[in-house]
Amino acid sequence: MGKRILIFGASGRTGQVVRRAAEQAGYGVLAPAHAECPLEQAEVVSDAVLGSGAQLVVNCAAISGLEACADDPLQAHLVNAVAPAAMALACRHTGARFVHLSTDYVLDGRRQGSKDESAKCRPVNWYGESKREGELQVLEALPAAVVARVSWVCGNPQKPSFVESTLARALAGQPLAAVADKESLPTDAADIARAVLALGAGEYAGVVHVCSSGQPLSWWHCAQLVLQAAVEQGALDAAPPVEQQKLDEVPFFREPRPRYTGMSNARLTAQLGIPMPTVQQAIGAAVQRYLAALRA
Ligand SMILES: NC(=O)c1ccc[n+]([C@@H]2O[C@H](COP(=O)([O-])OP(=O)(O)OC[C@H]3O[C@@H](n4cnc5c(N)ncnc54)[C@H](OP(=O)(O)O)[C@@H]3O)[C@@H](O)[C@H]2O)c1
Repeated sequence: MGKRILIFGASGRTGQVVRRAAEQAGYGVLAPAHAECPLEQAEVVSDAVLGSGAQLVVNCAAISGLEACADDPLQAHLVNAVAPAAMALACRHTGARFVHLSTDYVLDGRRQGSKDESAKCRPVNWYGESKREGELQVLEALPAAVVARVSWVCGNPQKPSFVESTLARALAGQPLAAVADKESLPTDAADIARAVLALGAGEYAGVVHVCSSGQPLSWWHCAQLVLQAAVEQGALDAAPPVEQQKLDEVPFFREPRPRYTGMSNARLTAQLGIPMPTVQQAIGAAVQRYLAALRA
């Protein structure tokens, strides 16, 4: 029998790409849909793992909207913390390797600069709280698990992120504005998928930062890189101006956002030997993929 992977959240921005990468890597993929496996029901989650015969379980599922988590913190806790713990415990029974995706939003975002895995955690919203609780519960249930923190996922044209929506607005000639006083590292879902599969095939246990290489940048700076890539790839004649916004002035952000959560990927790249492209390369690849999807 070939190798088998069970992916939770395979319909999401990251999960779709992880699923494709797993198929290309020759895995038999099991990917229960939301309705088939509602993550609020821990016993259903547990049964899905126990009955899967998977050697590798990857959790890309989450309630990832900050406002959605604030509107229903109990639901966020069940999906982002209790369900991953149930997955981890079931993996302990089956012997499967478990890679759980988490977020830079668990980090203390008060000072600028890159944070490594020893950096202090101090979530500032319900999403971050529930994700941090998930990290702790996963590692308590299964110390051999991998908690892969990712940031600002882009590069899936089917699920547009800030990168794709900036490009779409620029192509449509619409005005552009972006937050200039909040920083992290945009990361291509394809690079996350490759790293997740490599981590799944390895022996590393614990938290690891899975993000692009380079210095953290703001959404405004990210928008500049998107437009520069679009010009270089012939989709725009010139980069249009982007108005600078302040984080506190974005009207639809009801929940607080941590300001400086850019991560260092040195453990992943230098220690574990899993390379990650620069943020410029990641954005360039995401732009290229989006333009190709528009042409298709
Ligand atoms: N996107 C980012 O920029 C970002 C940044 C940092 C960290 N992360 C982390 O990366 C991971 C993937 O994020 P993403 O943005 O790819 O997620 P996403 O696009 O929001 O997808 C979430 C997935 O979870 C599933 N799901 C949600 N609630 C569920 C429930 N109650 N029962 C069953 N399935 C449920 C969704 O299924 P349906 O769509 O069918 O409901 C979907 O497949 C998460 O751990 C997230 O915290 C993401």
